[in-house]
Amino acid sequence: MKTLVLLLIVAFAAGASAQCRCETMKWATCDGTPCNCFLLVGKGERQNLDCTKLIPKCFLMQAEMYRARKGQSTRTIGGKPVETAIVDNDGIYDPDCEANGLFKAKQCNGTEECWCVNSAGVRRTDKGDKNLKCEELVETHWVRLQLKHNQTTADVDPAKLKTAIADAIQDRYQLDKNFVKEIQYDKDARMIVVDVKKEIGDRQADLTRMAYYMEKDIKALPLFKDTTKFEPTVAGQKLQLEEILVYYVDEKAPTFTMKRLTGGVIAVIVVVSLAVIAGLVVLFLSRKRDRARYEKTQQRELEEVQHALS
Ligand SMILES: *[C@@H]1O[C@H](CO)[C@@H](O)[C@H](O)[C@H]1NC(C)=O
Ligand SMILES: *[C@@H]1O[C@H](CO)[C@@H](O)[C@H](O)[C@H]1NC(C)=O
Repeated sequence: MKTLVLLLIVAFAAGASAQCRCETMKWATCDGTPCNCFLLVGKGERQNLDCTKLIPKCFLMQAEMYRARKGQSTRTIGGKPVETAIVDNDGIYDPDCEANGLFKAKQCNGTEECWCVNSAGVRRTDKGDKNLKCEELVETHWVRLQLKHNQTTADVDPAKLKTAIADAIQDRYQLDKNFVKEIQYDKDARMIVVDVKKEIGDRQADLTRMAYYMEKDIKALPLFKDTTKFEPTVAGQKLQLEEILVYYVDEKAPTFTMKRLTGGVIAVIVVVSLAVIAGLVVLFLSRKRDRARYEKTQQRELEEVQHALS
């Protein structure tokens, strides 16, 4: 009898501890009743987590920095829905977070060199010294996910793609599928472009966590405890994704200066300037022609009047 009770207790304890874990963050340490989970971040501080939701990206980056210092994990990414869209080319840094997990608007990576970031923690200004002013944290209200899927046995039906992707995003990343606004599909390139947008001014929905978790899933570095993949099912066929590129569009355009402009952007400016000059020339010539025609008409009318008079 005693053994049975003991066995029951052990079984119960095992059951309880199996419950105490963090589904949304595999590096979390969980303990106690009620279950409490935390993450080691930055230089080894504990950050408490709400494991019922995706973990704020700022905390995740801090944890990655902590792990990088200990010799684990890295990341890289590299594309544009609108001219003002930006990508994260800086790579990992040790971010300063607000208590609620938002990024602080100004980031310095523990150095004297600082810059301003958007709500995804992506740099949106030139780098400056530590006196740099970042007035506010500018919200990213649109993310474009550029995905490439693996070879499939059957053709992918583009008409079914939007629902499939939106459902998969909602299931895995807890983001309402209605934020998935548009999907474009290039069959030959096996490329799917997904636009996820929220209203300007919306501070409830967070697109940046979803984008970060997805990026990690596709790069085979999942942040979730479970090891399942992000695999949208289109007409019964699972789509395996092998590449991702994320573009961030902020409520306010970023403020990189000319000296940082890339060749591509300069080319666009040159083309636009040429177009404007060409437009001015056409306008000038057509005005000249109009005037000439007007003068000729006047001349003719004058002659007609003279003719009538004579
Ligand atoms: C931040 O600092 C780390 C070293 O602590 C460095 O490896 C990394 O490149 C820096 N990141 C940026 C964006 O400056
Ligand atoms: C997708 O294809 C690449 C090579 O084209 C392969 O290395 C990778 O394992 C494939 N991914 C999956 C999930 O099948």
